[in-house]
Amino acid sequence: MTKSTISVIGAGRIGQAIAGLAVRQGHPVVLSNSRGPETLQAVVDELGPLASSDTAAGAAAQGDIVVIAVTFDAIESLPVADLTGKVVLDATNYYAPRDGVIPAVEGDRVPTSVHVQRALLGAHVVKAFNHIVWSDIPADARPSDALGRRGIAVAGDDLPSKQRVTEFVDEIGFDPVDIGALDESWRIQRGSPGWITNYSAEQLLEKITEANSWHNA
Ligand SMILES: NC(=O)c1ccc[n+]([C@@H]2O[C@H](COP(=O)([O-])OP(=O)(O)OC[C@H]3O[C@@H](n4cnc5c(N)ncnc54)[C@H](OP(=O)(O)O)[C@@H]3O)[C@@H](O)[C@H]2O)c1
Repeated sequence: MTKSTISVIGAGRIGQAIAGLAVRQGHPVVLSNSRGPETLQAVVDELGPLASSDTAAGAAAQGDIVVIAVTFDAIESLPVADLTGKVVLDATNYYAPRDGVIPAVEGDRVPTSVHVQRALLGAHVVKAFNHIVWSDIPADARPSDALGRRGIAVAGDDLPSKQRVTEFVDEIGFDPVDIGALDESWRIQRGSPGWITNYSAEQLLEKITEANSWHNA
């Protein structure tokens, strides 16, 4: 069976961690960053023959799932046209000390993934992997029949796209936890009870339900 292509826009720490697990499951991966495909040659070589690099637009065009793993200040420069109709896995967080204050995000009390969706009109944004430290991704991945798997929250408005990301999360080693639509994804933003903690799916769901105030620290 042909494996779907996983593209990554923002092949830094989190992007490379997800790409590594995707390759391990036999997916072709296409990596991109802001400096150009040639600057990713060493990463491509390390990932092996399933990996390649391209521009962000090229990666977007090739991906069946396109992982967005850029710092939040880069959201407005993503290749919107090439992402139209695509399943976009949004792994980003907004963090003002790093990204600079973005007035639209600070002033408008909607989850950051909704801002990503507004920036990428026509794409199907699904939030996942924003609440795990990059180095835990290879360290904590376990096969689906293993005990003690870690839970990863999944939020999205388009149900087929959410299903696709849910299957990908499971395939690369985590228990997906459906937390609803993008509007609910504040429950897993920076500073929420389930953020950057190693919880099973059941524990994560409990923590997410516990989150009763806005989180975007
Ligand atoms: N680090 C974590 O543990 C972690 C965990 C969960 C979520 N996140 C979130 O994931 C995102 C990335 O974090 P990170 O730690 O992986 O950052 P990082 O290591 O600094 O990587 C960011 C990547 O984004 C690329 N990039 C920046 N602007 C771009 C643009 N306009 N087009 C294409 N690529 C662009 C950078 O490329 P260049 O190097 O060429 O500029 C770099 O490859 C952030 O939103 C972060 O909050 C991080």
